[in-house]
Amino acid sequence: MVDKPQLNPETGSGLDDLRNAFEGRLLFSEADMEPFLIDWRRRYQGSALAVAQPASVDDVVKVVRWCVKNDFYIVPQGGNTGMSGAATPDNGERNIVLSLARINQVRAVDTVNNTITVDAGCTLAQVRQAAEQAGRLFPLSLPSEGSCTIGGNLSTNAGGCQVLRYGNARELCLGLEVVTAAGELWQGLRGLRKDNTGYDLRDLYIGSEGTLGVITAATLKLYPQPAARMTALATVDSPHAALELLGLAQQQLSASLTAFELISDVCLELVAEHFPQCPKPFEDASPYYVLLECSDAESQAHATECFEALLFEASDKGLISDAIIADSIARSNSLWALRENISEAQAAAGKNIKHDISVPISAIGDFVVQTEKQLLSQFPGVRMVVFGHLGDGNLHYNVSPAADLSGAEHADAFVGLQSQINKVTHDAVAAVNGSISAEHGLGVLRRDEAARYKSPVELALMRSVKQALDPHGRMNPGKVLPD
Ligand code: FAD
Ligand code: MLT
Ligand code: ZN
Repeated sequence: MVDKPQLNPETGSGLDDLRNAFEGRLLFSEADMEPFLIDWRRRYQGSALAVAQPASVDDVVKVVRWCVKNDFYIVPQGGNTGMSGAATPDNGERNIVLSLARINQVRAVDTVNNTITVDAGCTLAQVRQAAEQAGRLFPLSLPSEGSCTIGGNLSTNAGGCQVLRYGNARELCLGLEVVTAAGELWQGLRGLRKDNTGYDLRDLYIGSEGTLGVITAATLKLYPQPAARMTALATVDSPHAALELLGLAQQQLSASLTAFELISDVCLELVAEHFPQCPKPFEDASPYYVLLECSDAESQAHATECFEALLFEASDKGLISDAIIADSIARSNSLWALRENISEAQAAAGKNIKHDISVPISAIGDFVVQTEKQLLSQFPGVRMVVFGHLGDGNLHYNVSPAADLSGAEHADAFVGLQSQINKVTHDAVAAVNGSISAEHGLGVLRRDEAARYKSPVELALMRSVKQALDPHGRMNPGKVLPD
């Protein structure tokens, strides 16, 4: 339990003062706060005076203003599924975790403007369902959609499995409502595709990881529901073969190609081991697999015809040696389960060193092969758990310990290699002008490394934005920018 610090001597306020400042719930017992003070990967743990769970936007304003008055820091939190430690407070004594989870209503759906306006605490699954009920598609698609929230998706500019067709969270957002670091409410929920009236404030808050303000609602783009969806899992020999298959798929399916995920064999082994209901799908193992999906506006017959033609041509060209085409939604879901369970399977297998990189798509094949060679020469036996969104150049290039060193007793020693393994991987990324964080943000995990790869000019510009929007450094201290 955090001792109640001497608060602002003038106001002498304490927990009950905060409790009376807003209508929502206030958690302050150790047990109640615990799940909010540790990240999903259980790599970061922090402390807070309390967890505030506002019940309305007005409550958010009141909590922020209380923090301003009493000189407290604010750590916004949605579903707490972030991968970079950005939703976990540091060990300071003056943190308030502000959970948006209870502000979770769908405010409006406009099927003519093709927009949906939702509270920040709505889960992604909730928003996708509301869109479907309105006969539309909200295309952001993450394996964490049952828990992650729209506020978190926008604050991390989440990517996921359909970026190559629909873009990431930023490209799907038209308007925001934000409580600023000063406790003012910015009502920017415009559902306009065109609005050139000054600086793009919306895009400053998107991807800011809670360090500039609190997103309380968003107006998002909706798309037509596809008439048909086809999913297949194909076997490929190498990332280079996968890239050739990507080129063929884009040529043949063009805009109807909506997902193109690379999966290394180790991933399916981990999934089969930790999710017995998801056995390896092919008799013979393949070094890599591609999970691809097309969404067709015309008809099931048209989708099937195009998809089968693509896979036959890929096979004739020797790009794939086998493929499973899902013949039902259940089969499609079972193929996606192989992909969506990789993260949890890898976590269940023990500590691992993750990378969330993006490089120009043309550089991916050489990056994967050459970086693996470098890592294996310096760290013999490590296992490459490579998977992710090949279609938009983003790979989760994760490293697990050698099989004989994967026991818990070796975990700390392996994690101790993190900075060396990160350096090999991220130097290879930087060499082809890639990014060391494609979709998970910088948080704490990548904060200091980003400072090493970003130019002083870029860092100075980012600091000026922070200084302008959060001059007292009240929002989410210790995240994104190095001290
Ligand atoms: P949190 O973890 O609660 O917070 C994340 C960041 O956003 C923090 O900086 C926090 O301060 C800030 N924040 C949260 N809500 C607000 C708000 N209302 N206002 C201001 N700041 C706020 N990510 C991807 O991009 N692509 C994937 O494919 C993907 N797959 C995943 C699979 C699994 C199994 C898991 C566990 C995670 C995955 N993620 C993925 C990571 C994570 O789900 C995303 O980063 C997601 O966007 C986080 O949403 P959240 O609501 O959980 O945010
Ligand atoms: C995914 O694509 O599954 C995620 O980004 C999660 C991860 O990287 O583990
Ligand atoms: Zn991802």
